[in-house]
Amino acid sequence: NANLNQLAQAAGKLYFGSATDNSELSDSAYVAILSNYEEFGQITPGNTQKWEYTEPTEGNFTYTEGDVITDFAEANGQILRCHNLVWYNQLPSWVTSDTWTNATLTAVMEAHIQSEVTHYKGQCYAWDVVNEALDDNSPTGYRTDVFYETMGVWYIPFAFATAAAADPDAKLYYNDYNIEYAGNKATAAVELVELIQSYGAKIDGVGLQGHFIVGETPSASTLLAQIETYAALGVEVAYTEVDVRFTSLPPTTAGLAQQAVDYGSVTSACLSSDSCVGITVWDFDDAYSWIPSTFSGEGDACLYWANLTTKPAYDTVESLL
Ligand code: XIL
Repeated sequence: NANLNQLAQAAGKLYFGSATDNSELSDSAYVAILSNYEEFGQITPGNTQKWEYTEPTEGNFTYTEGDVITDFAEANGQILRCHNLVWYNQLPSWVTSDTWTNATLTAVMEAHIQSEVTHYKGQCYAWDVVNEALDDNSPTGYRTDVFYETMGVWYIPFAFATAAAADPDAKLYYNDYNIEYAGNKATAAVELVELIQSYGAKIDGVGLQGHFIVGETPSASTLLAQIETYAALGVEVAYTEVDVRFTSLPPTTAGLAQQAVDYGSVTSACLSSDSCVGITVWDFDDAYSWIPSTFSGEGDACLYWANLTTKPAYDTVESLL
């Protein structure tokens, strides 16, 4: 075992990676796996580059916690996906509670992006510049968060242009869920990429989060078709936050076999397209998965059990890579 990144790179991908979080780095058995470049060639900070951590009060930028993760990746020679700059969630209350004008919120967003992208300049293979700007149920397609309400849809190209100016070499991504397969939200994502391009701003990639459910994960061909739809816009694609959760626990043997099929679909889709640069799991073992705390009663979504032994899904991913 311990070779997912090595296999992914041999298959022509840039990386196979994992998210992690600061508190997890005190678990030495976990770290022994996470730090192994042959297993994980890429790291995404699961939380500590988010706005609530990096600018907890206006104009006070703190990168101490984010730096712990980026330093870890650098020490292990791992590629960094940086996550994220503009998102409606995990915002400090001073951003959500204040009464902004277009001009004042624009200045706040510009200062935030400039500071953070400059701090990490040269370290990030990619930035998730805007995260989850689309709403599954909104008539416009756009999520009506503080940015959209105050600045209009223009905030999206503005965020990309600001990030590009601060680090011209970082790949700039739009990242979202439920855009991995054809549908209204994926169509809105295509239009979002075209919107950014129509403003003359740079977008390099679409991040497909890939938070899937056992037995409801799209087939490899469905996933591949959507990858190619984005690729036709001139951008690359990555699976950025993959996990495949059980909606009832504990899993059965048949359920674990289905989970393996589902992880396999994601793996095959990425392998089948030169436009898919890599796969990131949203942490690799169940002990540190975000699922149980967000989706009550659900879980066991990762490639490794909480005791750091591997699941059938791991063997499938390994055999396909
Ligand atoms: C999650 C983290 O994993 C949790 O620890 C946190 O409490 C909430 O956010 N989509 C994203 C990620 O883009 O940033 C989210 O991460 C999971 C969903």
